[in-house]
Amino acid sequence: MNVLEALSQATDLLRDETPDPKQEAELLLSFVLGTNRSYLLAHVYDGLDDSLVAVFLDSIRERRRGKPIQFITGRQDFRGLEFEVTPDVLIPRSETELVVEEALKCIHEREPTVVDLGTGSGCIAIALAVALPQARIFAIDLSEPALEIARKNAAWHGVFSHIQFLSGDLLGPIACLHFEEKIDCIVSNPPYVSERDFPSLQREVRDWEPKLALVAGNNGLAIYSRLIPEARKFLKTQGSLVMEIGFNMKDEVCGLFGSEWRIHKVREDLNGIPRVVVAQKY
Ligand SMILES: C[S@@+](CC[C@H](N)C(=O)[O-])C[C@H]1O[C@@H](n2cnc3c(N)ncnc32)[C@H](O)[C@@H]1O
Repeated sequence: MNVLEALSQATDLLRDETPDPKQEAELLLSFVLGTNRSYLLAHVYDGLDDSLVAVFLDSIRERRRGKPIQFITGRQDFRGLEFEVTPDVLIPRSETELVVEEALKCIHEREPTVVDLGTGSGCIAIALAVALPQARIFAIDLSEPALEIARKNAAWHGVFSHIQFLSGDLLGPIACLHFEEKIDCIVSNPPYVSERDFPSLQREVRDWEPKLALVAGNNGLAIYSRLIPEARKFLKTQGSLVMEIGFNMKDEVCGLFGSEWRIHKVREDLNGIPRVVVAQKY
């Protein structure tokens, strides 16, 4: 079988499963061959070893079962950096890059102290560490397996020594370190799906990404309503809390901030959906 024949067979197999079967087939074959799509498309008449065809067709079968392509390749790009991802972590989303962008606008100190709550793959903490080499960063997660992946990603990007990875619930781990009123910026992309909406999530998300990374109580607000008062204890005056929010959550989340906060900005994503809330502690 040559490259063209393998791609055409895989595209047929994926046709009813994904919106872009041809592109996914090309991506998976490039991954199996350890090359990139442009090389692949310039060599469509090259023959393939049977063993490679078997590995490729296995990956297509996994995709047909709904496994996200990123969990097959083990990779996802975030702000131009590549991250290892496994089913222990949420796959970083492009809209979460806005959290990093907004946090960078809020941080003016030369050696800031920053917390990433719910670090998952570490994408936010690591992107901040790369952009702010002088920063002291705490990356917290309740999931120890997620922290393992985040540590690997930090080492991969050469920022392991800039980030302290801490296991625990919300900001509890920095309370133990006595960081009250010492943090310049707290960033978070917390879980925000309600238990009620969870069953109707896309199959790739519902069946493959960690439920702990997705669901936050009956209304999706469980983490926001605990994090906002906790964040106040740890931020310096004028410190910022930068959080991603779910679809249609702007009013509910903004309503959780009391008069001792100033909502500085609600940033929309490329689809015009309010996506990031930036609030400042008075
Ligand atoms: C939506 S994911 C975000 C992951 C990553 N920051 C990103 O943007 O791709 C939320 C993360 O919060 C963690 N988490 C959930 N509840 C938590 C809690 N109570 N305390 C700390 N982390 C929590 C989950 O394990 C998950 O890694």
